[in-house]
Amino acid sequence: MERKDAIDMLREKISDELFSHCLRVEETAVKLAHQHGVDVEKASLAGLLHDFGKTLPERVLLELAVKYDNADYFTQQEPALLHAPVGAWLLKYEMGIDDFELLEAVTYHTTGSEGISLFSKLIYLADFIEPGRSCPGVNRIREIVYDDLDTALLCVVDLTIKYVLDRQKIVHPNSISFRNELILNLRNKEQELQGYGSF
Ligand SMILES: [Fe+2]
Ligand SMILES: [Fe+2]
Repeated sequence: MERKDAIDMLREKISDELFSHCLRVEETAVKLAHQHGVDVEKASLAGLLHDFGKTLPERVLLELAVKYDNADYFTQQEPALLHAPVGAWLLKYEMGIDDFELLEAVTYHTTGSEGISLFSKLIYLADFIEPGRSCPGVNRIREIVYDDLDTALLCVVDLTIKYVLDRQKIVHPNSISFRNELILNLRNKEQELQGYGSF
């Protein structure tokens, strides 16, 4: 799918507010892609399409999730999470997009997950730090994102988990596994640095 086609399609299907968000996520994803050496065109498309699941009402998303088993049990219990995996499923089976990296990024853009690609991590971040977001802590993440990706990601996961804890919502297991992986990555890096210092 070309960028122009994605924009025409989104304009038709989503609100102006959500469309503007998708454009800002695209802009941020493209910047991050340049910085971290991933496919810039694909980052543009993933930024635009990450909320494609929101083109349908939650009731329909849930029906699709149950019928096609394209979202796990916890996701099916939490409407705010449903649009991510079902959106990726829709992109694949209704829009004919079969790029694994793009579909993975859309699937995990709300929860993250252990083992996701750098590309998916950048889309996850872009959704959180796009210029329209103003939650406490987001400026700090914008400052460190280019130099310290894992710490930036950890801050996003922590803020997201705190948000759902405060509201007594489900903490998705993928967010926990993602957080644990990031902490171990950061620990390993620290140990490597200490190792270099001893020479
Ligand atoms: Fe989303
Ligand atoms: Fe979004």
